[in-house]
Amino acid sequence: MDTEKVTKVYSVYSGFYDLLFGKIFHHSRAAAIDLLGLKSGDRVLEVGVGTGLSLPLYPRNCSIIGIDLTGPMLEQGAKKIKKLGLDHVYLQQMDATHMAFRDNLFDAVVAAYVMSTVPRPRAVLAEMIRVCRPGGRIVLLNHFCNGNRLVSRVEKTISPLCTWIGFRSDLSLESLLDETCLDIEQNLKVNPFNYWHIVQCVNRKPTNGASNQEWTALNSH
Ligand SMILES: C[S@@+](CC[C@H](N)C(=O)[O-])C[C@H]1O[C@@H](n2cnc3c(N)ncnc32)[C@H](O)[C@@H]1O
Repeated sequence: MDTEKVTKVYSVYSGFYDLLFGKIFHHSRAAAIDLLGLKSGDRVLEVGVGTGLSLPLYPRNCSIIGIDLTGPMLEQGAKKIKKLGLDHVYLQQMDATHMAFRDNLFDAVVAAYVMSTVPRPRAVLAEMIRVCRPGGRIVLLNHFCNGNRLVSRVEKTISPLCTWIGFRSDLSLESLLDETCLDIEQNLKVNPFNYWHIVQCVNRKPTNGASNQEWTALNSH
């Protein structure tokens, strides 16, 4: 899927996305946010925030930025922010493959049900690593293809159908993380059907200096 197709598909979904994917994935979103291990004052980036279903789950003593490619999805998120008074949350339309944030800006970065929808998942992960500080947490909630040969074959076969409805079913965790500086701390299977994984990682990239200036500028909205 290219980015044009992604925005087309998710623009169509935006009006009824919460109805289809809200309740059913609520617990896994909550578990993923829990695994960020957030502390008061932490800066969090949610990549592919969509309609913002996870936004009410973040502690209010953290600062949250959500980015997404698809304007109509973000419009739904903006409505939630207003309705729920989530003034610790800021949304921005942005391609996760080329983020407009400086290195090391965030304490934690999360992508829920996103890596299988982006055309270049490794490029997105590289950006997540770049903008996350050394020692920060990166959490991926996603389906990763199964080591089981039969299941893998089925997943490869149905992959074109999945692409048509907006995600790929054949993404491998090993190839996604290969040669990155991420250490997996936990890899949990979650419902529905234990089909999804929450992968909690620590960013082991080398330390270099980071300033607060850009964060302050971004939050003066
Ligand atoms: C399946 S939805 C997940 C939304 C939300 N995270 C959730 O838990 O419901 C995938 C989202 O990723 C966004 N997306 C896909 N490719 C993207 C990219 N390159 N940059 C930013 N967002 C992207 C889509 O627009 C869509 O809103």
